[in-house]
Amino acid sequence: MQGIVVTASEEFLSTAMEEVRRVFPHLRQEVLGPAVFWLLTGADQERVHNQLIATPPIFVRHIHGASGWSVSNEQELFASIVERLEVDLDRVPKGAKVAIQARAFSTEWQWQGKELKAVCDRLLSQRGYEPVIKAPQWVISVTQAKRQVYYGLDRAQRNLSDWTGGMIHFRKDEGDISRAKFKLLEAIIRFGIILPRGGRALDLGAAPGGWTQELLARGLEVVAVDTGRLDSRLIGTPGLKFLQTNVKHLRLSPKDMFDLITCDMSWDPLFTTRLVNGLVDNLKVGGQVIMTVKLMGRKPLPTIERVLGSLDKSLQLRHAQHLWHNRQEITLHLCKC
Ligand SMILES: C[S@@+](CC[C@H](N)C(=O)[O-])C[C@H]1O[C@@H](n2cnc3c(N)ncnc32)[C@H](O)[C@@H]1O
Repeated sequence: MQGIVVTASEEFLSTAMEEVRRVFPHLRQEVLGPAVFWLLTGADQERVHNQLIATPPIFVRHIHGASGWSVSNEQELFASIVERLEVDLDRVPKGAKVAIQARAFSTEWQWQGKELKAVCDRLLSQRGYEPVIKAPQWVISVTQAKRQVYYGLDRAQRNLSDWTGGMIHFRKDEGDISRAKFKLLEAIIRFGIILPRGGRALDLGAAPGGWTQELLARGLEVVAVDTGRLDSRLIGTPGLKFLQTNVKHLRLSPKDMFDLITCDMSWDPLFTTRLVNGLVDNLKVGGQVIMTVKLMGRKPLPTIERVLGSLDKSLQLRHAQHLWHNRQEITLHLCKC
């Protein structure tokens, strides 16, 4: 049984399923767990997988191609995985960094991921590979649901995220101003964004200042705008200008040009879109926009379609994703062409 294990967020699982159904209406879907479903591709697995990578659905965080089979107990589960892995490793270049990512749903079996990791790591070391947890080049993915096991071995970038289920975690540093910073960090990693060191950024809805802090740390000058206050630790940071005002009253001179506009405002998504559209003349050609679109309890897909359809024509959509650190919102990455 061939297919793809697809992970979304629990809240938006049905939206992710709907998005995938729009692209592959003929493929059956089965829910495996609160945020995971199985897309039955049969022999068409490679083509479907490639298409999901080329245009990732907004609410899909992680995928792994898999073969599925049934097992009757934990011993059989472990043994059957090792048996498959023995053969599949022939495809992996020697010395590669390989991680095992395992999850179980709807099961009473007591096996632990670290036990399976120990078994697989022994085999990996014997065969000349480097078992790792972070930044793998290849990933052994195992998903178990009831008595079914879904197993795959693939290059990490083919899973959309090299973290289990796309659940990327960052270490919180003492000096961090807000957890909102993680949304920006995740967007930078997930979308492969290169920020222009020494460039100018306009950060809308900046307070308390997590994004502003990160942009300054990456060598950008920042004009931060918010009705609220920035964290006092940011005040006086070289390269920072703070405008404490409602964005509705923001008046920029035509000469005030930016390389990057970021916008993480808790605001109506269409107002936010209009605001960004109104600032395109202050964005350099080749400049980028990173913005969150708040869904505010509305129907996600129609809301996003309206937002994307209302964007200024000079703004090209590069990425749209419901990231692990997004709650009731998605993140857009745009480029002015
Ligand atoms: C999610 S917080 C931003 C968090 C920020 N990105 C960070 O990293 O700390 C949203 C911010 O939008 C601001 N905001 C909402 N409406 C605004 C408006 N009309 N004008 C200016 N700021 C606004 C709020 O005051 C709030 O600080």
